[in-house]
Amino acid sequence: MPPKVSVTAGNSQVLVPFLLTCRVGWRLTNKGVGRVNDRPDPADAIDLGHPNSARVYDYFLGGTANWAIDRVLGDKLSELVPIIRTGAQVNREFLGRAVRYAVGNGITQFLDLGSGVPTVGNVHEVADEIDPDSRCVYVDREPVAVAHARILLERDGDPDRHAVLQADLRDVDAVWKAALATGVLDPSRPIGLLMVSVLHFLDPQDEVSEVVAQYRELLPPGSHLVISHATLDAVPEAELRQFEAGVELYRASGIAASPRDRDTIRAYFGDFALAEPGLTWLPEWQAAGHQVLLRERPEACCFVGGLGIKG
Ligand SMILES: C[S@@+](CC[C@H](N)C(=O)[O-])C[C@H]1O[C@@H](n2cnc3c(N)ncnc32)[C@H](O)[C@@H]1O
Repeated sequence: MPPKVSVTAGNSQVLVPFLLTCRVGWRLTNKGVGRVNDRPDPADAIDLGHPNSARVYDYFLGGTANWAIDRVLGDKLSELVPIIRTGAQVNREFLGRAVRYAVGNGITQFLDLGSGVPTVGNVHEVADEIDPDSRCVYVDREPVAVAHARILLERDGDPDRHAVLQADLRDVDAVWKAALATGVLDPSRPIGLLMVSVLHFLDPQDEVSEVVAQYRELLPPGSHLVISHATLDAVPEAELRQFEAGVELYRASGIAASPRDRDTIRAYFGDFALAEPGLTWLPEWQAAGHQVLLRERPEACCFVGGLGIKG
């Protein structure tokens, strides 16, 4: 049965490979576990009636896996909060530095939750540059992000070392079991758990701290937890209304955007030891020797992040 996707509204550069992927089947992973969907039914259609955080982020980064409805929201957000595109790039730079840091620290396997549409500097590519035997399981709930990751991995990946799952990260046990069932991750060794620019898309009712605590508990000792998160803590009073209007616009579009304060974000690391320089504005994190956007006014990115290590 063909996927229920409106071809007229689609971006053919993306839609064609997506349809093909549905036809070819989903080969890289094992059987589904719980509510995790590693063999998406083609009827699990892309929602083109609403914008989606994965596709809007892809638009901000200059990708092609987005539709008109995503670009309209992206443009409106950029009008309200012009720094938002640069913020996306800053976040992507941070992700790359965090993965490099983790691999340099002996982490050779990653679980990337809310991995997004593949773009420049994907986790497995960054990790492979340093350790060609590194491993990565990508997880996202958005079908377009998952389809693109699958296409990329079918072309360039190694089924023994890479997998992608469609799942909601809030289903902690199901995600964890399915990630291990891929055979890609070894639970007896430290894992790099990435929650980069995703937790602010969970709304307050989602009990975010409980979700993150469950992952912390499951991780083997020595594991690294990487989080980046949006915050309005340093937005000047005169601009705050604009930023809040941006948050409201996300929400009115069906995307649960929830910036949080620094203390709340710090608490997501629990008792994990924060690597230097702690929880910082993203352009300040392990930036020595790197070209980094917004180095002169790091707080302008409105993102903090850090890397915690389980004792
Ligand atoms: C802004 S993108 C971040 C992508 C990537 N982590 C990065 O930092 O470049 C956020 C991603 O999180 C995904 N996402 C949001 N809520 C999610 C959830 N509850 N479970 C899994 N993925 C989720 C979205 O579909 C989107 O792809």
